[in-house]
Amino acid sequence: MKNLFSVEGKVALVTGGSRGIGEMIAEGLVANGVRVYICARKAEACDATAARLSEIGECISVPADLSTEAGITALVEQIASAEEQLDILINNAGATWGAPLDDFPVAAFEKVMNLNVNSVFELTRQCLPLLRKGASAPDPSRVVITSSVEGLSTSRQANFPYSASKAGVIHLAKHLAKTVAPENITVNCLAPGPFESKMMAFALDNPDMRSAIAGSIPLQRIGEPEDVAGAVIYLCSRAGAYVTGQTLAVDGGLVLGPA
Ligand SMILES: NC(=O)c1ccc[n+]([C@@H]2O[C@H](COP(=O)([O-])OP(=O)(O)OC[C@H]3O[C@@H](n4cnc5c(N)ncnc54)[C@H](OP(=O)(O)O)[C@@H]3O)[C@@H](O)[C@H]2O)c1
Repeated sequence: MKNLFSVEGKVALVTGGSRGIGEMIAEGLVANGVRVYICARKAEACDATAARLSEIGECISVPADLSTEAGITALVEQIASAEEQLDILINNAGATWGAPLDDFPVAAFEKVMNLNVNSVFELTRQCLPLLRKGASAPDPSRVVITSSVEGLSTSRQANFPYSASKAGVIHLAKHLAKTVAPENITVNCLAPGPFESKMMAFALDNPDMRSAIAGSIPLQRIGEPEDVAGAVIYLCSRAGAYVTGQTLAVDGGLVLGPA
């Protein structure tokens, strides 16, 4: 019963690990002894984050564009050339787009759905051979998908492709989980509430909006890096080995309805 939350010695890939929630997750894993590969499109930012995290452990930058099948294949080939197995895949990279309903651009809807759903499926599919390598009944390989509280409720402002994509991956995770469970691979989702990031900067950088958002959360605060890193560590350690197909809201209670 000791060390239930250890992830030491595992190998992970965190997509969108250069900043925001992905960086928080990567930092939590690196600090707890995981060798973490992070990817993002902007190589310079990805390299800089990997350099910062390398001061506390092992972090490698593998820039990639996950919006294309070729970008996904190139990324998986890079990981496969360096590692025998992949223990943890964190599908975290995501995008959003805001526009009024009547003017919503088709291309924007497709872009959000493509990165937030299609790429999650394709990357997971292409990583399966590496995930299978180290998977065992006592210590399954883990896939975690960053969904959102917006995939679970309508408590925040309507955002059509974003909330549809985040609800979509929750159901995708259930089907993937059931399919790969016999191979000792778990698939779960996180549903974060508001966390500091570029995606949320439009709201959280405005002091009035920030305090309104914090005040709308039952636990009365914005998420901290430890909140999301802790949830991932739970799902990826011995503690979470018997959990699959689930969605863990890390949202200060927002999914229960605004405070
Ligand atoms: N922040 C929140 O409050 C919140 C709440 C709920 C859920 N989420 C979810 O959490 C995840 C991370 O969001 P965030 O808020 O941290 O956003 P963010 O600050 O915008 O970070 C997004 C990350 O994904 C990368 N990325 C974007 N497009 C990519 C592509 N085509 N290929 C590879 N990487 C790509 C970005 O790097 P490049 O731009 O260099 O590619 C960056 O590293 C998303 O799935 C988001 O929907 C966020």
